[in-house]
Amino acid sequence: MSRGRFITLEGGEGMGKSTQAKLLADALKAKGIPVDLTREPGGTPGSEAIRALLLHPPGEGWDREAEALLFAAARSDHVARRIRPELESGNWVVCDRFIDSSRAYQGIAGGLGDKHILALHDLGSHGLLPDLTIVIDAPLQDVSNRLAIRDAAGSDAIGRRANEYHASVNAAFLAFAKADPKRFQVVDGAGEIDEVQARVMQAVAPLLESS
Ligand code: TYD
Repeated sequence: MSRGRFITLEGGEGMGKSTQAKLLADALKAKGIPVDLTREPGGTPGSEAIRALLLHPPGEGWDREAEALLFAAARSDHVARRIRPELESGNWVVCDRFIDSSRAYQGIAGGLGDKHILALHDLGSHGLLPDLTIVIDAPLQDVSNRLAIRDAAGSDAIGRRANEYHASVNAAFLAFAKADPKRFQVVDGAGEIDEVQARVMQAVAPLLESS
């Protein structure tokens, strides 16, 4: 049996990634492809427990090194217990955020640097990289309404960081895509959900043709 394909969706806050990840998984299933839809941080019981610690930190919160280590630990469990076994059994995996979120948030916006984040990924997840990473991009001001609705009940420890932090995250995703056009596809997040979905399906088409 051939290995399944690994697709990640990335982008800043409020880009509609989770909606698009679900629509993508449904569309692949409709083509008869077995798909596991998952998310980060999370995806296994241990990683979901770490997610709660990261997004709603006890006490005074994590310093940036501890935060990066916790994201890497959550990913390590997720890769070992869920993502690799799924891929090895021939299933496709669609994941809402993955290593590029750690590179953008902790590495670039948080200032730890790409080298350290990739070193943690080498150790924690044996450097597993997606076959395709879709970056959903929209200007920060365009997503502010969506964020206001989503965060009406209170944003999490990372979502509530300053606008400059989030602008730096968004710029980092675009820079990663530019540096590695073989793995990344940037999709315009503007417009209606079905318009964005059509762009996502276009981005996935080469993977479908080669499988
Ligand atoms: P989530 O509610 O899933 O955010 P979103 O809906 O924007 O995807 O919360 C995940 C938060 O964690 C989000 O602010 C991005 C952040 N994050 C990192 O900082 N580093 C990471 O490696 C990952 C996976 C997420």
